[in-house]
Amino acid sequence: MNVRRLVTFGIAGLATIVAIGTAAGAAPGPAKFQPPADSLRALAAPTGLRIGSAIDPFDLNTPNYTQVAGDQFSTVTPENEMKWQVVEPTQGTYDWSGGDRLVAFAKAHGQLVRGHTLLWHNQLPNWLTTGVANGTIDNTQLLALLHKHVTDEVTHFKGKIWQWDVANEFFTDSNPSGINPNNFWITHLGTGVIADAFRWAHAADPNALLFYNDYNIAGEDGTNAKSDAVYAWVQQMLADGVPINGIGDQGHLDTQYGFPTAMQSDLQRYADLGLKVAITEADVRTFVNNATEQVPTDHLATFAQPYEFLKMMQACLAVRACISFTVWGYGDADSWIPGFFTGEGYATLYDVNLAPKAAYFDLQQDLQIAAHGAPERTGS
Ligand code: XIL
Repeated sequence: MNVRRLVTFGIAGLATIVAIGTAAGAAPGPAKFQPPADSLRALAAPTGLRIGSAIDPFDLNTPNYTQVAGDQFSTVTPENEMKWQVVEPTQGTYDWSGGDRLVAFAKAHGQLVRGHTLLWHNQLPNWLTTGVANGTIDNTQLLALLHKHVTDEVTHFKGKIWQWDVANEFFTDSNPSGINPNNFWITHLGTGVIADAFRWAHAADPNALLFYNDYNIAGEDGTNAKSDAVYAWVQQMLADGVPINGIGDQGHLDTQYGFPTAMQSDLQRYADLGLKVAITEADVRTFVNNATEQVPTDHLATFAQPYEFLKMMQACLAVRACISFTVWGYGDADSWIPGFFTGEGYATLYDVNLAPKAAYFDLQQDLQIAAHGAPERTGS
């Protein structure tokens, strides 16, 4: 009997005890959320892989959107609501409402939460960047403010976050790649600030899995230079005893570049260091007629888009340490792509009317097959 069966058996046994307790007069607890049997999350469950999406917690007022969010995914990431700009819009005044709302939704739907993100050069509060620019915040104060930010945020969500994206997007897109010396944080505080953030996060919530997250770090750059740089860096972090548990490859692909063939081997080599890996922000964009309808202009893109989604998930499935596959939003109408990549869209699993597309059905089918052969996740 394998471990998973034992665990399942254990839970079934518990259910019996609870049922007896209820019959004896105790108030029944909330019913456990049951996703549809053909949902992505249910089909992925036998391998232990969690399927996730970025969610805008305030979109959870929309019934169609909410239905898909609960039914299809077993992990959720706030698209923006845990970023510093959102949680501390005025210095010293926290707004946790979006994050709290998503955490509550996740709990009600049997989902785990990926926290995103503590240390990044984008979406910083204005008071912080303005203060640094005009000299009212010096580097010593900046370090103290960052320490407080990481500690307060991780403490607020302590025990509710499965994986934290502690640090995000520090490496250059050049060949060779390295930590970007022009990054806001590196300019002011030096490269050691990344390790500091991991140590502070670990001190505040020792049970959360702490991730370094970036794009093009699983061969998407063609040369593998960025992956090589992150690999060398994380090896050093581990040698230095920095509490880092995983590497997240964002997985923002574009059909015009083709599928990165090194993805599986790149994920595997991070895993071989003893790390977890995850696909954290998957989408596959292509050129479209306009941002409203998002019909691909090249009809071959309607094949390439689902193909690249599928290959990305297969790369994750083939690596036992790959514990989650998260898409960056699930409907084309809500995707960040049209706003950030001129002329592109069609990047998600559902169309602009929230009807599932070929990519959705391909993942569904492949997960069904994987349930009968893909390796079970390690320690998920
Ligand atoms: C994006 C969000 O999707 C947008 O809504 C926001 O305006 C900008 O940020 N890499 C990341 C994510 O790590 O946080 C980014 O999310 C997309 C790129």
